[in-house]
Amino acid sequence: MKVKDLLAKAPGEEVLAKGWVRTKRGNKEIAFIALNDGSTINNIQIVVDKTSTDAELLAKVTTGACIAVRGNLVESIGSGQAVEIQAKEIEILGECDPVRYPLQKKDTTFEYLRTVAHMRPRTNTFGAVLRLRSQMAFAIHEYFHSKGFVYLHTPLITAADAEGAGNMFQVTTLDLLNIPKDKKGGIDYSKDFFGKRTSLTVSGQLEGELGATALGEIYTFGPTFRAENSNTPRHLAEFWMIEPEMAFYDIKNNMALAEDFIKSLVRYALENCYDDLKFLNDRYDNELIERLKGVVNTEFKILTYTEGIEILEKAVADGHKFEYPVSWGVDLQSEHERYLVEQHFGRPVILTDYPKDIKAFYMKQNEDGKTVRAMDVLFPKIGEIIGGSEREADYGKLDARIDELGMSRRTLEWYLDTRRFGSCPHSGFGLGFERLLLFITGMQNIRDVIPFPRTPKNAEF
Ligand code: 4AD
Ligand code: MG
Repeated sequence: MKVKDLLAKAPGEEVLAKGWVRTKRGNKEIAFIALNDGSTINNIQIVVDKTSTDAELLAKVTTGACIAVRGNLVESIGSGQAVEIQAKEIEILGECDPVRYPLQKKDTTFEYLRTVAHMRPRTNTFGAVLRLRSQMAFAIHEYFHSKGFVYLHTPLITAADAEGAGNMFQVTTLDLLNIPKDKKGGIDYSKDFFGKRTSLTVSGQLEGELGATALGEIYTFGPTFRAENSNTPRHLAEFWMIEPEMAFYDIKNNMALAEDFIKSLVRYALENCYDDLKFLNDRYDNELIERLKGVVNTEFKILTYTEGIEILEKAVADGHKFEYPVSWGVDLQSEHERYLVEQHFGRPVILTDYPKDIKAFYMKQNEDGKTVRAMDVLFPKIGEIIGGSEREADYGKLDARIDELGMSRRTLEWYLDTRRFGSCPHSGFGLGFERLLLFITGMQNIRDVIPFPRTPKNAEF
């Protein structure tokens, strides 16, 4: 039986538990083993009568060892747990050399644990984080399915640069020591695997729009790749993104969905993952649960980018120091976003109508000729957690913007077909899954909410 189920079971029966030893302590007569199998943050206590147990076998019950225990589930007299197992039979499934075991008792730093990321799921903290990650993925699917959205699988290998930012990982089978050349001396991609230049996707959105303009409401949920050299606690080179895309939604409908979606996910975590949240709250961040409840119960503040800039400029005039300068037209840094959320409004913020020059080509152009119908959702501790927009549905305007930006139309003809044939108003957004998890777990570094982080110069395991 799983430890989680054992802990909820009434005492009185013989049970079999399997798991990894967290600790062993005791005295001359009795040993107490804390056993965990990953099903819950909580351990089950195993009580061993030393007088009737082989000492050599018990010596092998060390931290990290894998054991199976058969015994009676009894009411526990010790505090901290309702039941415990009175061991009758212990089997060592896998020994664990206590000297070489990478997870030692002394409080290990997150930096160190990243170097042993293959073992860190055995710690309480990463067990909690990974269970939460799994639960949130489930909650996301449940949310969209309950609303009738279609889960669309968009390709990971693509020939288009959705965000137009150019920070893509190239995918090739060409021999890098012997690259075929075309007549002009450039690389002959017709010899490459796909017969053209391809990359790992930075977003499933463009294909998502194909889905939305046929199926109505879709979402994607998959890995996304960005070769940006950003060594920050909020950037990964490989991260997961959820991208809903909806026909007939304007930016207001889009914002309402984003707010409802994220609140539902936080509520789901509070209702279904309380043990893990409580552990993280008590261990690292005493305001975590309050912060989560706060988000569920507050209305997000909606304002324009221009209004946001005015607030930030006023803060600077009043003596607030930012590392990066602010003025109309700049891309906001996380310090600016967090100032608006944490200092100024004290609640999540949705910023709209950004300058078109700092946003992607597909966003719906406003009448002022300067701004686009973008919406970024900004969160405490994180900054940008969601980026989205209403899409430019007008073929002529979109076409002109593609030209203006000097983008290659050849790789976008299929996308333009959505506007050529039965174009419709539509909107969507992207939620960074790991940014959501940073918020929900209270972890400080995005490398600690994904099992195997990929960042510049780091692709271990
Ligand atoms: O704002 P972004 O770049 O928007 C898009 O990709 C759109 N195509 C989304 C859409 O409208 N369908 O990225 C969306 C979100 C960000 O708000 C952030 O949460 C996350 O993805 N994100 C990253 N997360 C971790 N590491 C990175 N390098 C990230 N880049 C973006
Ligand atoms: Mg963005």
